[in-house]
Amino acid sequence: MNQFGAIWANHPAKIVNNWRSIVDEDDIVIVAGDLTWATKFDSITSDLNLISSLPGQQKVLIRGNHDYWWKKHKKILKSLPNRIKTLCGDAIKIQNQIFCGTRGWISPNDPFSDPLDNKTFQKELKQLEMALNAATLLQTNYEPIHVALHFPPFTTAGKETRFFDLLCRFKIETCTYGHFHMKEEWEKIPKGRINGINFILSSTDYLSHKPVLIWEQNQ
Ligand SMILES: [Fe+2]
Repeated sequence: MNQFGAIWANHPAKIVNNWRSIVDEDDIVIVAGDLTWATKFDSITSDLNLISSLPGQQKVLIRGNHDYWWKKHKKILKSLPNRIKTLCGDAIKIQNQIFCGTRGWISPNDPFSDPLDNKTFQKELKQLEMALNAATLLQTNYEPIHVALHFPPFTTAGKETRFFDLLCRFKIETCTYGHFHMKEEWEKIPKGRINGINFILSSTDYLSHKPVLIWEQNQ
């Protein structure tokens, strides 16, 4: 990743060191996609084992556009180490919180969108709807729902996408996403509470490789 700027120099060590100093054993950690450039699931065993070993009772992973190792979700589910969960258009409850998510995709109203992106965009939109419905079904006592997307529900110019519209139809607490690595994108993208949802940009370079707190009990 060094070719993308000084911020990426030695980034795995920075992430691990910051994770160890910031995250508590009781925390649940969302990793919002683009974990590795690896192409085969078998070659990321050490990465997954490392994440499993880091503080945090559970780590919730979703797929990014560079996670080529993430091909068949059902197969991945059978081979995950302890304390790692993956989401792909579905939802899980961990203690008193609900997590749902999917990869997302570049929106047709994004200046960089190509007509060839439309099919994947529509599929991912459906996946998000499935995930949100599954999350709502898991709710029994107003548990907070956290959504993880890799592609933000905003365009590179900061405009809302149909993912944003869909999120606003549900009673969710937070939406965490990554994918954006350009300063201009960071400046334009909306962040913080909008329509009752806390939107969090979690690209590791944007966060200087430090995990960010997105929600805490009794807040
Ligand atoms: Fe990405």
